Amino acid sequence: PFHWYQKMQRENPIFFDPNFTLNWGQQGAWQIFRHQDVQKILGNYEVFSSESMPKIEQSPISNGIVNTDPPRHKLLRKIISKAFIPSVVSKLEPWIREQCQERLSVVLEKGEMEFIQDFAIPIPVSVITKLLGVPVKDFNQVHRWANELIFDPDEMETGAESFFRTQQEQSMYFEALIKEKEQHLQDDLLSHLIQAEVDGERLSLADLISFCIVLLAAGNETTTNLLGNMVLTFTEQPELQTHLLEHPQDIPLAIDETLRYRSPVQSLFRLATKDFELDGHQIKKGDYVIAWLGAANHDPQVFPNPEVFDIHRNNRSQVSFGHGIHYCIGEPLAKLEAKIALEVLFQKVKQIQVKPDVEIERHPSAIMFGLKSLPIIFQRH
Ligand code: HEM
Repeated sequence: PFHWYQKMQRENPIFFDPNFTLNWGQQGAWQIFRHQDVQKILGNYEVFSSESMPKIEQSPISNGIVNTDPPRHKLLRKIISKAFIPSVVSKLEPWIREQCQERLSVVLEKGEMEFIQDFAIPIPVSVITKLLGVPVKDFNQVHRWANELIFDPDEMETGAESFFRTQQEQSMYFEALIKEKEQHLQDDLLSHLIQAEVDGERLSLADLISFCIVLLAAGNETTTNLLGNMVLTFTEQPELQTHLLEHPQDIPLAIDETLRYRSPVQSLFRLATKDFELDGHQIKKGDYVIAWLGAANHDPQVFPNPEVFDIHRNNRSQVSFGHGIHYCIGEPLAKLEAKIALEVLFQKVKQIQVKPDVEIERHPSAIMFGLKSLPIIFQRH
């Protein structure tokens, strides 16, 4: 999409597209492409609301933290930040390393793997199940849900149906799990969330359930995409693989640059709750607005030569994890997973290439940038 972004930034950086269709069938939305405008939209929750999805009873996500405005958002965020503390996340490091090593050891002999199914999907799923404190026996169930939550716009009809059915199943599952945990609190995120209190308030059962489902939706596909996009980029740039083998301390820079270059989340949407003038354009109350993170991360005003992948560029202004009050809570976890995955990969293998004669297929989503499959071959050290 990068050429399209650049063309839009040059010719039509802010415009209303009457044909743009949102997931639930809503038609028409403003398209915002420049970095400065994307930040203006996401930074102004008083005008650009996150309560933009219709509140759907079958969809606990539609009432979760991502889709609420202050004051409810502020309370949810405070409670969740209290439970999502760095020590809970960093404690997982040795366990994540073990998981990555195990996944790789199974395919090491063969010298090839389908990186998305064999690695990029199961690692984030197992991390979230472990983090939440889901019993190991239920891992496959959660894995299946995570796959089902990946929304395929080509299957709009059946897609929406299975999207809601999955959320219903998850609701029932997490309700039972939460009730069980309330009796036997442990040292996991869900137990911390159950106990967390802010200003005398605790999360209700409905909020706890919706948070579990939000985590599966927000933390899995995004991280899968990051892992897949990183390895795809390495296959395109063998010299970068050599560099990282010799300088593993630069792995975090490569992760940051992948996040900018192929942002896992390409767009966010908001609903205007007041009229607003943006650089001479009249956005009306009730209009939907699409903020293109992927375009903002390729804005030449902020990232010179944006189409060049350069791990040494200044990446401080990128908006891959959003901007403003909804800024991603899971950033440290996602970056930790990516760092460990790459360290393990580069310790064991080299010369990662796309398997000859296969076509790399992107997931057909305007919201996410990720691959459907990525068959790779490699050499052992
Ligand atoms: C919010 C991206 C991984 C949990 C967000 C938002 C973005 C984002 C763009 C802002 C949404 C908005 O403003 O509407 C990403 C990317 C990830 C990633 C690119 C991986 C590379 C994770 C992980 C978790 C997580 C691993 C948790 C385990 C959340 C939550 C929110 C959020 C709970 C909502 C915060 C709020 O509404 O206040 N993420 N995310 N994310 N993310 Fe992530």
